[in-house]
Amino acid sequence: MCVHFTLGANKQMKKTILITGAGTGIGKDSAFALARRGHNVIATTETEEQSLNLKEEIKSANIDLNVFKFDITNKKDHQKIENYNLDVLINNAGIGESGSLAEIDINKVRHNFEVNVFCSFEISQLVLKKMFDKKEGTIIFISSLAGKITMPFLGPYCMSKFALSSGAEAMRSEIHRVHKNIHVSIIEPGGYHTGFNQKNIAKKYVWMDEKSVFYPIIDQIKAKEDRQFKLTESKSTASIVGKIVKAAEAKKPKLRYSAPWWQAFGIQLLRMFGK
Ligand SMILES: NC(=O)c1ccc[n+]([C@@H]2O[C@H](COP(=O)([O-])OP(=O)(O)OC[C@H]3O[C@@H](n4cnc5c(N)ncnc54)[C@H](OP(=O)(O)O)[C@@H]3O)[C@@H](O)[C@H]2O)c1
Repeated sequence: MCVHFTLGANKQMKKTILITGAGTGIGKDSAFALARRGHNVIATTETEEQSLNLKEEIKSANIDLNVFKFDITNKKDHQKIENYNLDVLINNAGIGESGSLAEIDINKVRHNFEVNVFCSFEISQLVLKKMFDKKEGTIIFISSLAGKITMPFLGPYCMSKFALSSGAEAMRSEIHRVHKNIHVSIIEPGGYHTGFNQKNIAKKYVWMDEKSVFYPIIDQIKAKEDRQFKLTESKSTASIVGKIVKAAEAKKPKLRYSAPWWQAFGIQLLRMFGK
């Protein structure tokens, strides 16, 4: 996916922006889009292999990005960013466990929270130290519309995104009491065809076998989720990347940004009717 924005960032608004999980998908597309707008982008990846691949892509795209391996669960990797003076942190790295909360190994749920929630806040705390010193900056959390409405058999992932959004909202209002120019924003993507959803829904079939109480309806579950993602996933990430760029560049970013609009609107309606 290639997002071209016509407006370049002018000198005054050029920002230093670090993105986690930028080896693939929405994170990678956002890194490219922000770099094309003239920002100083640090695109970090979970693995060395992703870093190497990303460096190759950057070369052929002829853009300038700083790339290195940064596994958000790895304490040694955390040291790599301690001295960075960032204007914007984009907490994009995420994973998704699936399967019923009636049966799933709770350690899988715990790990999902570790990556999506605890590590994202841990890294934000690290980055905030410098932001508190200079009294400005923006922390962005890539949450999900699944942090507003729950999908069956995706409970572990949805729970983690509810928690992430709730924590981000709390952090924003707390910081605003002491620093009016440090902002926290939540991005809520709907379905995007990055391969993320397919990877997540497949995870439960590794352990949801004949012993599962849901085994008799497993074909129904598969058919429904296939239908749902085929219907809802956007092929291009451009709409959500546009929102991430907006939040990163805004002087006073909003609390929430969602896309695609029709999914955000649908979720709003469902919630109005008590879902
Ligand atoms: N696609 C959607 O429909 C959708 C909808 C709502 C929200 N989101 C959110 O958007 C974000 C990006 O998702 P995506 O769709 O672009 O999927 P993606 O391509 O799988 O992006 C997630 C990235 O995070 C990386 N990651 C996982 N664990 C990490 C760790 N410990 N440290 C550093 N990086 C790690 C992944 O690396 P590996 O590939 O090695 O795992 C991957 O590069 C996620 O937070 C996701 O929850 C996506």
